[in-house]
Amino acid sequence: MTRTNKTILVTGGAGFIGSHTSVELLGAGYDVVIVDNFVNSKPEAVRRIERIAGRTVALHAVDACDPVAMGRVFDAHPIDAAIHFAALKAVGESVQKPLEYYRNNLDSLLVVLDTMRARGARHFVFSSSATVYGNPHAVPIDETFPLSATNPYGQSKLIAEQILRDLVRASPDWRVATLRYFNPVGAHESGLIGEDPNGIPNNLMPYVAQVAVGKLPKLRVFGGDYDTPDGTGVRDFIHVVDLARGHLAALDALFEQDRSVTVNLGTGNGYSVLDAIRAFEAASGRPIPYEIVDRRPGDIASCYANPDAAERELGWRAAFGLERMCVDQWRWQSTNPDGYPAEA
Ligand code: NAD
Ligand code: WQD
Repeated sequence: MTRTNKTILVTGGAGFIGSHTSVELLGAGYDVVIVDNFVNSKPEAVRRIERIAGRTVALHAVDACDPVAMGRVFDAHPIDAAIHFAALKAVGESVQKPLEYYRNNLDSLLVVLDTMRARGARHFVFSSSATVYGNPHAVPIDETFPLSATNPYGQSKLIAEQILRDLVRASPDWRVATLRYFNPVGAHESGLIGEDPNGIPNNLMPYVAQVAVGKLPKLRVFGGDYDTPDGTGVRDFIHVVDLARGHLAALDALFEQDRSVTVNLGTGNGYSVLDAIRAFEAASGRPIPYEIVDRRPGDIASCYANPDAAERELGWRAAFGLERMCVDQWRWQSTNPDGYPAEA
């Protein structure tokens, strides 16, 4: 496998998962071209990717929905494959702003695919989500489970997956990896890159980290009466570096094998909200005050992956446990309490 002369387009590469994946790509010898409009990230993330990797990245501060700008990106670089992270991802906001979510998440996908088609690039990795399983009838969840969506964000991922299935059916020369992520958390071990949510975090781990560092007074645990071992929600937290490595495994499989794949990227372990709080307290040495409040509308009791298909199809399995996720997330949070600095 010759990675050294391959160039990978990473849309949304300044974001949480894209930045960690870019570090892994550079470390493996790929050249990386990032497209990001910084709607939910900062350019400083790209400088830090370069610092960790000791290599430069080609950065284009453009909107992936803009076909002219994307054409110029492909003019400037010999792109072999794309990993498409760029999307809006806040579930609650997607209910308030469905048109913005459908337009951004689907236009960006279609523009990237169209530009690739015109330029002869045929290898594509897509960021999907466990949200496509809706409210699963059982756990662990495998890829054959029925798909459904309960909000416009999830629906945008379902439609995107359908677009990709139709594309592969019509044009078998495409190689597409559809990766369904469970709950990515943690940060790079350097503490230089991590998740930097705007405003008050919606997701559990960034919220817990901000309580630990003293930015937020207490966590509200949404629901203590689920049908789970301790009554709180159970999730498959996966270290973002494991997730990033899953993308490298997917790219290798697409380049080496003659077929497309759809797989879960999770650990296969379900941890409760209370387990996560205890693990973060141990990692940070700080108390996490919390109170149990009503369930959050739309939440499900339990969600964790059967990760066997990813091992079978990609030769990938998650390596890091919950403790390491918390240790790394704490290092990022405690050394960057306000996230990335804004531009001077
Ligand atoms: P993120 O918001 O940190 O990263 C997304 C990046 O895309 C940001 O840097 C943002 O500025 C950029 N972006 C958005 N729209 C763009 C556009 N039109 N043009 C150019 N750049 C654009 O989110 P993340 O957590 O890194 O998520 C990456 C992908 O993974 C998304 O597609 C998301 O839906 C998916 N996903 C995330 C999770 C999660 O919990 N974080 C779970 C499952 C799936
Ligand atoms: C985890 C658990 C909450 C915050 C979401 C999206 C999903 C995917 C990943 C993109 C649940 C509880 C949370 C808080 C809490 N994203 N919680 N207090 O809901 O599993 O998944 O992110 O694709 O589509 O829906 O993640 O981190 O929000 O919640 O008690 O302040 O933590 O109720 O049980 P979720 P989460």
